[in-house]
Amino acid sequence: MNAQLVRRSPCQGLAMRLMGEAAVLRCSGALWLPELGVLAVADLHLEKGSAFAVRGQMLPPYDTRATLARLEAEVADLTPRQVVFMGDTFHDGDGAGRLAGDDRARLETMAGRVDLVWIAGNHDREGAQGLPGRTVAEIGAGAITLVHEPTLGEAPGQAAGHLHPCARVAAHGRSVRARCFLTDGERLILPAFGAYTGGLNVRDEAYAGLFRQTPWAGMIGRDRVHAVAWGKLLPEGADQFRRKKREASKPVSMAMRTARTP
Ligand SMILES: [Fe+2]
Repeated sequence: MNAQLVRRSPCQGLAMRLMGEAAVLRCSGALWLPELGVLAVADLHLEKGSAFAVRGQMLPPYDTRATLARLEAEVADLTPRQVVFMGDTFHDGDGAGRLAGDDRARLETMAGRVDLVWIAGNHDREGAQGLPGRTVAEIGAGAITLVHEPTLGEAPGQAAGHLHPCARVAAHGRSVRARCFLTDGERLILPAFGAYTGGLNVRDEAYAGLFRQTPWAGMIGRDRVHAVAWGKLLPEGADQFRRKKREASKPVSMAMRTARTP
C-alpha cells in the first residue's frame, strides 16, 4: 500500500486514485467518484428478509427499509448525477415485486432526481423489473468499468461486488472482523451494502489472482474506513488458533486451576 496515495476524506472514508480516477471509499460501503458524479453500491440484497419468510424462515422484515435509508443518506450528502447498483440489488428475481409500496416510492422519488443504473447480478439476472432506470450488464465510469462479478485473473480498471469482502485483524489480543473494500489501486472489490449480508474473508482463495499488485483493505469501522496492509489481514479462524496456542503454552498448574474453576 502506498500510504501517500491514500488520505482521509472529509466523510472519514478514504480518498484515493483508482486507475487515475478520484475515488472515495465511503464509511457506508459505497464507492463515490466525485469528478464523475457517480455513486456505486454493491449487493444490497433487498427483500432478503421477505425471501426467507416465503421459505418459512422468519427474519425481521426491515432490511430493505434500513438499506434504502442508508442509500438515501448518501444521495442527500453527495448529490450524485448517477447511482449505479452493482448487481444483486434484490435477493431474488421476485424481490422487486415484493417491495412495499413506500419502499418502491422511495426508489421512484430517487429516480426523479438521479439517473439510476441497475447492473444485473446472479441473484437478480433480470435487473430491477418494473422500477425506473436502465438495466445493463456493466457500465463505464471514466477509466473504471463497474460490473457485478469480478472476472477471473487481472482486470485493471474493474470495480466489482459479488464477493462481499470482509477482513479480520488482530487488536488488543483478540481479532476484529468487518466489511471492507479490497484494492490495489487498479482494481476494486466493494463490500456488500445491504443490511442482511454475510461476508467472505479476503484471505479466501476466491480472491486469488484478482490483483496485479498486493492489495490492501479499507476496513469499515464504526465511524471511519481504516486502510490495512495485506500482511495484517488474518484468515478466518486465526484468532482461535492463537488462543489455543496461548492456552497450550500456559504452565500446567495454571491450566489445572482453570479447569477446576466452575
Ligand atoms: Fe452476486
